[in-house]
Amino acid sequence: MLEIPLRKLDQLKPRAAELDRFELASTDELRAWQLDQLAWSLRHAYDNVPHYRAKFDAAGVHPCDLKSLDDLAKFPFTSKADLRDNYPFGMFAVPQQQVARIHASSGTTGKPTVVGYTKRDLDTWSDVVARSIRAAGGRAGMKLHNAYGYGLFTGGLGAHYGAERLGCTVIPMSGGMTERQVQLISDFKPDIIMVTPSYMLAILDEFRKQGLDPRKSSLRIGIFGAEPWTNAMREEIEESFDLHAVDIYGLSEVMGPGVASECVETKDGLHVWEDHFYPEIIDPDTGKVLPDGEHGEMVFTSLTKEAMPIVRYRTRDLTRLLPGTARALRRMEKVTGRTDDMMIVRGVNVFPTQIEEKILTIPALSPHFQIALTREGRMDHMEVRVESRPDALAPQVRCAAAERLEHAIKATIGITARVSVLDPDGIERSLGKARRIIDHRPRE
Ligand code: DLL
Repeated sequence: MLEIPLRKLDQLKPRAAELDRFELASTDELRAWQLDQLAWSLRHAYDNVPHYRAKFDAAGVHPCDLKSLDDLAKFPFTSKADLRDNYPFGMFAVPQQQVARIHASSGTTGKPTVVGYTKRDLDTWSDVVARSIRAAGGRAGMKLHNAYGYGLFTGGLGAHYGAERLGCTVIPMSGGMTERQVQLISDFKPDIIMVTPSYMLAILDEFRKQGLDPRKSSLRIGIFGAEPWTNAMREEIEESFDLHAVDIYGLSEVMGPGVASECVETKDGLHVWEDHFYPEIIDPDTGKVLPDGEHGEMVFTSLTKEAMPIVRYRTRDLTRLLPGTARALRRMEKVTGRTDDMMIVRGVNVFPTQIEEKILTIPALSPHFQIALTREGRMDHMEVRVESRPDALAPQVRCAAAERLEHAIKATIGITARVSVLDPDGIERSLGKARRIIDHRPRE
């Protein structure tokens, strides 16, 4: 059996001989590949997707206009609305017979967004997820418990095939049945878990409920994503389970999990797998491309995708691009939030991750929280509902914790929030992505 001593980083960090061609390539080699592929991808979209042809023509650009990577800025953006307007298969660039799989994201309103993959796309996807798991410290022969949801959501199957590609033994658990998750982790002794960070907290609670010490579990590596989470949450999970926690990012419109991923030896942001996904950061208000290092909205263009090429897709995710560290490929900083998750409370912009960070500085408070927004007259009110830790139930302890959090929010974020400390289990657990904001304000 593979024995990985706790926190032995030197054994988890891949050797150069284990890396892929583009993890080792120089920046010049990478840029040359990107330019060739970008030319192919724009041409493929233009020739085979009437919607792209119409949009390029309307903007007065043609794939031939791409002479350098910077020329990409001349091409129009794509948004979720483009996918919705072409529901279900209008964005596909190959005949249906060549589409090997379809995924869809439910969306809160209206029609789902539908995405498709050829066999080669599925192959690419497996490769980038395998690369991500290896960057996290995973290796062939390790057991991997996959608690991302299986089905139309890209998390479950995306992680699954990547783990198989790397040579892991996959336990296709999916989300839910939390007691069962803990039982199987205890019995099957996986080395790796892939799950949303918020559901990992539910699994943690269940360990404790069953009287098990999570630090004694077999888990050594956790690969968490599909929702924003902070470095404070990373510490919480790492300490509780004594494992290495790394971030994995992706979105269905671009591929699924494995668009970018963190390396276990640095844990300093996610290396974008730029040989397949070309990143740009734009100012979300003006659409102007920003230089690396500046904060803005992430935009992706696919470089190799066949079934559904995507050109300048506006992710709504806020982050910035940074130079490579563990790999030469550029990093994206941990996502702060989505433009549509940004709450504007009395004129101050605030993201749930900022609240999460503050909560985790207060020992009496658990990381389970929700934010309720209401409006009285013309004033917005924000209430932070957070559970107390089971060892901090005394009313005076809770009261002091609430005051401390209110003070921290006021002092550092600049807004007045009311904090309610609830009993443990007072906040509904999600089986996948957490629902952080409940907005009761009237729609404008
Ligand atoms: O959530 C794909 C995925 C599955 C990624 C499993 C990682 C792990 P969608 O359902 O299309 O796809 O949602 C994509 O989720 O635009 C981000 O807003 C958010 N997101 C995904 N990963 C992260 C992350 C999957 N690591 C949307 N940090 C994206 C912050 C993330 N947000």
